[in-house]
Amino acid sequence: MKSSLFVSDIVERGLLYAIANDRIHTAQPLDAAENWHFWTEPKSPVLEWLARSYPPQSVRIAYLDAMLGHEHAEGIEAHYDVSNDFYALFLDTKYRFYTCAEFENDTETIEAAQTHKAEYLLSLLNLTGDEKILDLGCGWGAMLKFLQDRGHRGKLSGFTLSKEQLTYATQELGLNVSLTDFITEDFDSAPYDRILSIGSIEHVRPKEIEQLYQKIYDALVPGGLAVHQFFSLIREPYPTSMVTLQIFFPGSLLTMHSNHIEAAERVGFKITHDSIHNYRPTLRAWYDRLVANKERALELVGLEIYNRYMTFFPVSWLFFQQQEADIHRIVMAKPA
Ligand SMILES: C[S@@+](CC[C@H](N)C(=O)[O-])C[C@H]1O[C@@H](n2cnc3c(N)ncnc32)[C@H](O)[C@@H]1O
Repeated sequence: MKSSLFVSDIVERGLLYAIANDRIHTAQPLDAAENWHFWTEPKSPVLEWLARSYPPQSVRIAYLDAMLGHEHAEGIEAHYDVSNDFYALFLDTKYRFYTCAEFENDTETIEAAQTHKAEYLLSLLNLTGDEKILDLGCGWGAMLKFLQDRGHRGKLSGFTLSKEQLTYATQELGLNVSLTDFITEDFDSAPYDRILSIGSIEHVRPKEIEQLYQKIYDALVPGGLAVHQFFSLIREPYPTSMVTLQIFFPGSLLTMHSNHIEAAERVGFKITHDSIHNYRPTLRAWYDRLVANKERALELVGLEIYNRYMTFFPVSWLFFQQQEADIHRIVMAKPA
């Protein structure tokens, strides 16, 4: 990467962004051990302070505002429409969940941990078997397939904005999935007994949260449940990590967890469950799988995208390690 770009990245976007962008454009595949160590080992307090306080809030907000001018679909395509075969190299082989799993111990596989997560969510959905369920941001159809495998009889459908995911979920798995923007488009076949989302509310911008929760509320039957897993900010609305996030998810911006809860309550939901989970083991497991499949990954997506994911996983690990964000599972109940 040209040193002039590195310098302008530091000035305009800050240290974290500049270093991440620089490493992504390294002329070789990033070394697995060095790279993980580089991001996750503690840095000097001065460096930490600099990384967290520059650029100042006003510059961050101006940049993020400009990024929010992009269409949702653009950001989704940039991240997800890379190659289905590439994602298959590091996601769990059974369901292809691209969201935080539930590791019960240090030795279990990502396959087992994703099944535990799905079982946890299943318990929150509190199903009898005939409910009509909509999965907002269903990815490669993982949770819908899991529900099918567990014998769910009610109608299952999902929305995604990724064309690659749509192809896989409809053609490979035969699921009822459509390319629908759950923020801007209607939920055509409402009402639903359950509406769930795993790892997609992160893509909803702060100003869209309440309107989305209202739409979910309106689309549920009385007594229906919305079950969501998503991560949200703990401390401050625009940390420098939100600027760095734009490298990986252009146009996405997180908000504080309290804003989610307040918005849900304002539209009439009662929060009946809110638990916090740990994303770090999942990020490490994906990293290790990607490294183990390095040669094939390079053939499929090339050097820059390989290095981008090699950077994305430890940067995200750091984000949770430094307690900037938490991953929650919540149940929002519509009164009967
Ligand atoms: C991190 S993936 C999670 C996929 C899946 N739920 C899982 O657990 O593997 C996020 C998903 O949200 C979808 N998504 C994000 N914003 C969306 C929107 N506005 N409308 C429809 N889908 C959206 C993406 O297309 C993607 O399928």
